[in-house]
Amino acid sequence: MKQNTIDSLKKFEGKEVTLAGWLYNSRASGKILFLIIRDGTGLCQCVVEKGNVSDELFEQLKHLGQESSLTVTGAVRADERSVGGYELAVTAAQIIGPAQDYPITPKSHGIDFLLKNRHLHLRSHRQWCIGKVRHTVVDAIRRFFNDNGFILIDTPIFTTAVGEDQQSLFEVDYFGSPMHLTQTGQLYLESAAMSYGKVYCFGPTFRAEKSKTRRHLTEFWMVEPEVAFTDLDGLLELAENFVSFIVAQVLDKNRSELEALESDISALEAIKPPFYRLTYTEAAEILTGPKAQQFLAEELKQLQEQKKQIEQRITELETKQAGQIKQWQKDPRRFASQSEAAGAADLIELRGELAEVDIKIENNPKHAQLAAEFRWGKDLGGSDETIISHMHDKPIFVTHYPKQAKAFYMKIDRENEKVVLNFDLLAPKGFGEIIGGSVREDDYNRLVERIREHDLNPETYDWYLDLRKYGSVPHGGFGLGVERTVAWITGEQHIRQCIPFPRMMDKVYI
Ligand code: 4AD
Ligand code: MG
Repeated sequence: MKQNTIDSLKKFEGKEVTLAGWLYNSRASGKILFLIIRDGTGLCQCVVEKGNVSDELFEQLKHLGQESSLTVTGAVRADERSVGGYELAVTAAQIIGPAQDYPITPKSHGIDFLLKNRHLHLRSHRQWCIGKVRHTVVDAIRRFFNDNGFILIDTPIFTTAVGEDQQSLFEVDYFGSPMHLTQTGQLYLESAAMSYGKVYCFGPTFRAEKSKTRRHLTEFWMVEPEVAFTDLDGLLELAENFVSFIVAQVLDKNRSELEALESDISALEAIKPPFYRLTYTEAAEILTGPKAQQFLAEELKQLQEQKKQIEQRITELETKQAGQIKQWQKDPRRFASQSEAAGAADLIELRGELAEVDIKIENNPKHAQLAAEFRWGKDLGGSDETIISHMHDKPIFVTHYPKQAKAFYMKIDRENEKVVLNFDLLAPKGFGEIIGGSVREDDYNRLVERIREHDLNPETYDWYLDLRKYGSVPHGGFGLGVERTVAWITGEQHIRQCIPFPRMMDKVYI
């Protein structure tokens, strides 16, 4: 089959093209049919006028079900009222695979229904936009490291040593012996860093975390760079340049998707180094001081206001959907702006947003209590991160956590032995952690001690300890979660929408 793609229509203005795709939406107005076709590269309005095609084909197209596949042929003409700016004056069409009663209709569906139908929901405009952004994020990750002298190391998925913590291991039966799925490629990566200097691994990661939050998946993608001869400042600089590059690439390549997703583009444009730097101790002071409580009280007010606005928008959209048909009868060419085409999907999303806001309203007093009760020594919880991150408009590094709150491999700060040389990077405006990283303990004896303190067996780590025996160097790295990064950039509330087939603690749908 030879066809053109919607994203290249601009080059064919005035010429005849054939598109192959699926019927996204359609309307009939007497002698004219408006078909919105999607082909994977975009949406295009295709206008079929009676007389330009056979009566039989006209009738077939008129009754064609949503998501039927077809080809359409016609001349390209510019029309700014049309989705994408161009439309097709159809002269021929061929139905390829008819679809009847497509389950995801423009009426509202709950998230459970959509996840059950994930294989179909991936075709929705919103999911399509998120998928495009994810593609750019992944591409930017590889590009950044490949262009900056890092060597890709594919670390194993079956692992023998605990990489992060014992509680979140997925155990598998490996020919009768216990083995687990990787929580991090870091330990293996450290050995490769002693070979190449700068390395990274990028792949799926597994955590049996009993967390049903919007930030947790049991299978997620993580990229981890590891650098020999570096220190905490070097790592922070690498992380801020890296994250800024990813955001710049998305802004460059996915502006229309970001617009359709209603992401905060101007906030993204401000993501440039330097990021904010706070120590854990400073963060703890903010949490237990008056600022956090003031912030939460203010947040509650805003949430209640937001709830009102969403409810209003839902009512408006519901009325608009009914009204649109009338309006369109007056001016049939003015079919669908991007937002109108996505109107039905918006309604679904809005109901989802309303549910999220309700949860936030419910959680607000609990978070206030948690912040007030925060004590130095604890790891920052999700709600603590949210508070700190809400107070900033750019990403925030939180450094120097208490050693008892963090993994065994983190290097103890020789100037203050209560803390480790680590950092988390919190995405701003309430999103929370997207990166965790540290300088690694490079002293053999101290590392053995730390392994024991964590109730782990030094014998399992003999190869890892060897790195401290044969030419140990100061080194470190970090891990960035892909789904969390995509969720932050797109403004998506829940990271489950940012991976094609999400695996959550409570449910794996398909
Ligand atoms: O902070 P974490 O646990 O760090 C590590 O795994 C280190 N070994 C990385 C390193 O230093 N090489 O995880 C890193 C990032 C988090 O900041 C988060 O973005 C993501 O991985 N992440 C998750 N994403 C989704 N679901 C989960 N359950 C996640 N757990 C961590
Ligand atoms: Mg972490």
